Amino acid sequence: MTSSEVGIEPAVVVDQLTVVRGGTTALKGVRFALEPGTLTGLLGPSGAGKTTLMRAIVGVQIITAGTVTVLGRPAGAAPLRNRVGYVTQDPSVYPDLSVRQNLRYFAKVLGAPSSDIDRVIEEVQLQPQADQVVSTLSGGERSRVSLATALLGNPELLVLDEPTVGLDPVLRRELWDLFGRLAERGVTLLVSSHVMDEATRCHRLLLLRQAELLADGTLGQLQALTGQADPEQVFLHLIDNGVQGPPGGDKDLPGRADPEAEGRTA
Ligand SMILES: Nc1ncnc2c1ncn2[C@@H]1O[C@H](COP(=O)(O)OP(=O)(O)OP(=O)(O)O)[C@@H](O)[C@H]1O
Ligand SMILES: [Mg+2]
Repeated sequence: MTSSEVGIEPAVVVDQLTVVRGGTTALKGVRFALEPGTLTGLLGPSGAGKTTLMRAIVGVQIITAGTVTVLGRPAGAAPLRNRVGYVTQDPSVYPDLSVRQNLRYFAKVLGAPSSDIDRVIEEVQLQPQADQVVSTLSGGERSRVSLATALLGNPELLVLDEPTVGLDPVLRRELWDLFGRLAERGVTLLVSSHVMDEATRCHRLLLLRQAELLADGTLGQLQALTGQADPEQVFLHLIDNGVQGPPGGDKDLPGRADPEAEGRTA
């Protein structure tokens, strides 16, 4: 049974979100909702507004207009602190501490149990590097430490800004497998990416272009809309030609293009 069938509220509701950063409109009138337990890919060219949107959802971005509601509360509300995990585009761990020391520190800050530390090390497959100082890790290993910190405390929402950049294909596949397993456990994930083949691993795709939400739908819907089979061609077609509206419907209804969204409460 899907969450919408049992009337569970969306995990994230973004409504008419506009953000101006240093004179640049980074987001303009963005609307969508994320259903709990879904894996959504956030795509768009460099500068499209992906990081800004993620920052707004985790509550570290001053917004100009609109609202962002996360797990039923305004984004950034204090009770959300332990319920939302965020991995920034740049590694945010301490280079002079080991993997385990970093995780011990973040677990303490978040109030996560110390038993979580070994679990998250295993989830990102850093057991061999657990006692290595972060500054000596490879780029891919370092980004996995950031991901491990976000998994502490079993957050209900994970916001991951390009978590697979610099990882080899085997590791990328393993991380996407992990994201899939987390979604099956009911975690809601929003993952930004430039790698279009990763779109095939997402339940749903949001495509930003020049601060606006250009498309919102499943890969299959976007393939049908553009007449393209290859995810990269779908992306390029949408960026070049735009769309009349999201596939399957009315731009005014957040998440309308998601077939599982029927009957949702928002
Ligand atoms: N502090 C800032 N001051 C002024 N403009 C900013 C600031 N931060 C971001 N911007 C602008 O806002 C727009 C959106 O930036 P954002 O970082 O959200 O893009 P992005 O889609 O994440 O790009 P990338 O794929 O390169 O990470 C860009 O035009 C960027 O130059
Ligand atoms: Mg970014």
